[in-house]
Amino acid sequence: MPDVALQASGLSKQFISGGEPVPVFCGVSLLLKAGESLALMGRSGSGKSTLLNLLCGLERPDEGEIWVGGHRVGAAGDSPKEQPGQWAGLRRQSLGVVFQDANLMPALTLLQNVRLRASLAGQPDGQGPEWLNRLGLAGLEHRYPDQVSGGQRQRAALAMVFAMQPEVILADEPTGSLDRHTADEVADQLFRLRQETGCALVLATHDPELAARCGQRLDLAHPGRQSDCQ
Ligand SMILES: Nc1ncnc2c1ncn2[C@@H]1O[C@H](COP(=O)(O)OP(=O)(O)O)[C@@H](O)[C@H]1O
Ligand SMILES: [Mg+2]
Repeated sequence: MPDVALQASGLSKQFISGGEPVPVFCGVSLLLKAGESLALMGRSGSGKSTLLNLLCGLERPDEGEIWVGGHRVGAAGDSPKEQPGQWAGLRRQSLGVVFQDANLMPALTLLQNVRLRASLAGQPDGQGPEWLNRLGLAGLEHRYPDQVSGGQRQRAALAMVFAMQPEVILADEPTGSLDRHTADEVADQLFRLRQETGCALVLATHDPELAARCGQRLDLAHPGRQSDCQ
């Protein structure tokens, strides 16, 4: 695994609202080596989800560059025709992304979802029950996503990412819908996986206890950041 897992330099993003440009953030840079973790903090609307979307190629930056595993994969001004395939390949194999609205396939059971994600990443799919067990979902393997709670769906989405064995995990408020005890257990598993596989973690979170477990912290609500935007 390359030493630098994820790097971004000078990322800026704005949206157009009512015909007016609305800056979200400017000049955001980060560098995560294998095994490092970053807490992405900031009040609601500060751009945490937007930054995660840039880091996995679902949105394009207005300025700045992104490297995954030492390869430059995204930059403002890159041809939109070239990028989607490259980013899709990374999301299949190297970037494990957990969105806030746990993105499970509704027609598949939790176990089938985990197995599918493992196979797409070229990983063995036989460990599905173990990944679900690690996220506290033993006994729910054969339920469909609409037969479990929102918090259980979110944990199943994490089990899918664990099964990928990615180089980088990007998780949007992974403990946001969980009670304190379950949140702590899920965080334990995230950090245990990091230790076992050397993956890097980027966690958008409001949870100060989860943030405190991360080695780095990036606060998007830092005063002055938005006023730096042109
Ligand atoms: N697709 C979009 N179009 C227009 N505005 C958006 C879009 N996505 C996010 N925004 C705006 O960008 C800002 C940051 O949103 P978001 O990244 O979701 O923040 P957070 O995850 O920190 O709550 C918000 O003001 C939001 O309304
Ligand atoms: Mg968000």
